[in-house]
Amino acid sequence: RTFRIAAIPADGVGREVVAAGRAVLDALAADSGGAFGFDWQEFPWGCDYYQRTGRMIDEDGLVQLKEFDAIYFGAVGWPTVPDHISLWGLRLKICQSFDQWANVRPVHFLPGITSPLRKADTTELDWVVVRENSEGEYAGLGGRNLAGRGRGGEVAIQSALFTEVGCERIMRFAFDLARTRSRRKVSSVTKSNAQQYGMVLWDDVFHRVADDYPDVETESVLVDAMSAKFVLHPEDLSVVVASNLNADILSDLGSALAGSLGLAASANLNPERRFPSMFEPVHGSAPDIAGQGLANPIGAVGSAALMLEHFGLPEQAARLYKAIEKTTGAGILTRDVGGTASTDNVTKALIDALAG
Ligand code: NAI
Ligand code: MG
Repeated sequence: RTFRIAAIPADGVGREVVAAGRAVLDALAADSGGAFGFDWQEFPWGCDYYQRTGRMIDEDGLVQLKEFDAIYFGAVGWPTVPDHISLWGLRLKICQSFDQWANVRPVHFLPGITSPLRKADTTELDWVVVRENSEGEYAGLGGRNLAGRGRGGEVAIQSALFTEVGCERIMRFAFDLARTRSRRKVSSVTKSNAQQYGMVLWDDVFHRVADDYPDVETESVLVDAMSAKFVLHPEDLSVVVASNLNADILSDLGSALAGSLGLAASANLNPERRFPSMFEPVHGSAPDIAGQGLANPIGAVGSAALMLEHFGLPEQAARLYKAIEKTTGAGILTRDVGGTASTDNVTKALIDALAG
């Protein structure tokens, strides 16, 4: 079957890594003897588009996107447009409108890549951060006191929203995921000692849901302690479930510990499949290296593998993971992971590895 995919490269290295991911997926499809294929449509939305039109996305953009099997996203944000406008105008708009409430961010060691943690060969790192992606600290609730603006007396409020339904569905998702892994453990992250309403509701729901999964080990860890645990005891984690902001921060830390932000993949899932899900690398548009052929495409290619799993093609996803391991294991690495290869070199190596 042919999967219809909306590609939104957006800004900076997003363009380079989406091109790389598309090339790898097309090579995979070409090699399948017609068993499956991809029908791509690329959308020009992003910061350049905003500067031309005053909009981050077409007025009927969501209506257009709704018809696709999935969205393959690069990264949004550029110094010419305030980040809160570009992020809310495009990425968060899609996530929230399409109820992509589960953001799945796996991270693990790859052969040939040195991690700041990998001093002893015994250290293991193989987790999935499950990020609540529809509410929490990114609910967009609050406001600025415009009356006081410019007179030194301004007040701003930024509230977090936690609902029982929202907490429960992300936790069940995390527990179900833990059951598919060799280590059946869910670690819940909060700051419920300091944030006494939403995070305490989160804890209550976590303990209630945990009762339904007696075969899954659990722990509840405060976010500050968890950031230390990521570094000191990575082998003790399997599935980490956290609110929107906490998981956002922890997943960047996790990918850096695995070697680079450029390696990390993610899926923004609408598990009910009423709307398309969106697949994107964890990293942003990296203006510091954009346009120079330095971007690591592995995070984007890993995100393509997550998309294949979502399409029900796990053996094809496994082929991509193998190609990634073969490429990094052979030392074909971009600069962020200590190599000298370009984005194109790595992309070509990935395609060759698929064939070989
Ligand atoms: P960033 O993730 O773009 O960059 C952080 C660091 O990681 C930089 O040193 C960059 O060179 C490096 N890096 C990122 N991706 C890489 C790759 N594929 N290969 C090699 N190195 C890579 O985060 P930053 O600088 O905070 O944000 C830049 C822009 O991206 C901002 O406008 C921000 O709002 C946006 N952003 C967008 C996201 C999204 O669309 N999902 C996520 C995070 C940031
Ligand atoms: Mg982030």
